Amino acid sequence: MEKILVLDFGGQYNQLIARRVRELNVYAEIKPYNRVTPEEIQAAGYKGIIFTGGPNSVYDENSPHYDPKVLELGIPILGICYGVQLLAYMSGGEICSANDSSEYGKTVVFTKNSLIFNNVPTKSICWMSHTDYIKTLPKGFSVIAHSDNCPCAAICDETRKIYGVQFHPEVTHTIYGKQMLRNFLFNICLCKGDWKMSDFVEASIEKYRKHLKGKKVLLALSGGVDSSVAAVLLHKSIGDNLICVFVDHGLLRKGESEFVMKTFGEKFGINLICVNAEARFLSKLADVTEPEKKRKIIGEEFIRVFEDKAKELGKIDVLVQGTIYPDIIESGKGESAVIKSHHNVGGLPDSIGFDEIVEPLSELFKDEVREIGMQLGIPKELVWRQPFPGPGLAVRVIGEITKEKLDILREADAIFREEISEAKLESITDQYFAVITDLRSVGVMGDKRTYGYTIALRAVTTDDFMTAAWTRLPYDVLEKASNRITNEVTGVTRVVYDITSKPPATVEWE
Ligand code: XMP
Repeated sequence: MEKILVLDFGGQYNQLIARRVRELNVYAEIKPYNRVTPEEIQAAGYKGIIFTGGPNSVYDENSPHYDPKVLELGIPILGICYGVQLLAYMSGGEICSANDSSEYGKTVVFTKNSLIFNNVPTKSICWMSHTDYIKTLPKGFSVIAHSDNCPCAAICDETRKIYGVQFHPEVTHTIYGKQMLRNFLFNICLCKGDWKMSDFVEASIEKYRKHLKGKKVLLALSGGVDSSVAAVLLHKSIGDNLICVFVDHGLLRKGESEFVMKTFGEKFGINLICVNAEARFLSKLADVTEPEKKRKIIGEEFIRVFEDKAKELGKIDVLVQGTIYPDIIESGKGESAVIKSHHNVGGLPDSIGFDEIVEPLSELFKDEVREIGMQLGIPKELVWRQPFPGPGLAVRVIGEITKEKLDILREADAIFREEISEAKLESITDQYFAVITDLRSVGVMGDKRTYGYTIALRAVTTDDFMTAAWTRLPYDVLEKASNRITNEVTGVTRVVYDITSKPPATVEWE
């Protein structure tokens, strides 16, 4: 299988580079620069290497450098942003800091005739984000693009097939960026471009069949997309040697536990153990009202429950995690700055005593994982399901968490989801759910006074969940959901709709 290596020097856009390459039907693997040697690169038979961007300056004391032997392997290289500065520096060029003329954002770039700029106009908009620039060109290189502020916006040594661009071809703001990557892959690396996602699936099944032969493998299945895809993939490789543990913490949506058992246990025949830990979680959560404290208790208890089950199972050789590439980046496990800690990475205890962690999806993005899920025959409603937070309904029960409040919430939430589905509105909202507030109010039913909880409905529209707008749901859908909830769910007198965006609110209420 032909493949490209994306050598990661820590830039925030690096994830996108691999993805763009895969979109062009060439498989791309990302590896942190300090975890692969030139010898390993040569042995792996890569058709090309892309040096990514990164936040450093090549002269910083701790800036990532790379072994210059890589330049002599005869494998084509494309350096991007920090990557091109590093290539120039490694080849004897001089890099300078230009605080007064740093470039950020859309910039007009003038290109010359070069293989990398085939079918790219001589003047086009590119996305720049740099302070340093190449001041003195290394021997053997020539300048093939410039901007008003950057004399070396692109360089190349055509004989050694080494290219570099100061701008970011992987972002859509660089209008001809994809064309440049296409040129690198097909004109310079001479790739065929016949890779498909199904190749990845088949290769992974085969790889883990060999690698995990005879081993006892454990996976914590949450019923979310990532762990589900990892489970089905590994089950195809090693069958019953994969044991999945599903922890029902009593904070799940209506029907969730049954759905997971039915889908994975019955449909796929996966060796699946459901641990009913509702009583354990609810007793730990009794009287707790502070949101962060709830989360902490749930996180810790989850680990304890999983650990207890693992101990019962005897020696475990391998732990599988459904980590995907953005999780690694966001947790600061690659070279990028830490943005937030993610529950998937390193969340499970060493005390279980496994020898190895396997993360079969760690190179992929969410939509790629979904595509694999579809290929593996996982039901569409699971593959395309909305996100559900690890702490479950606990972050949607305001105030003290009780079984009574959870049951009311489960019913109200199920009705709201049914109405969204009935009105076929899944395409206009990315996450939608009910929240049970700690507020009770007076109502009237028949001729009787009632006194019950207020349910808040929340629906948001977003690309990345970092920001979100409240979804403009049609009034008649809201009306029907409200009528049904107050009529069908005992203990609810009032339904409100949350019309706050993120920021200033968050998606979840806690
Ligand atoms: P917030 O509330 O932070 O939510 O705006 C953004 C997205 O993240 C989900 N979320 C979580 N997911 N563990 C998770 O796995 C958590 O602790 C957690 N908290 C929030 C939330 O559902 C939304 O999709």
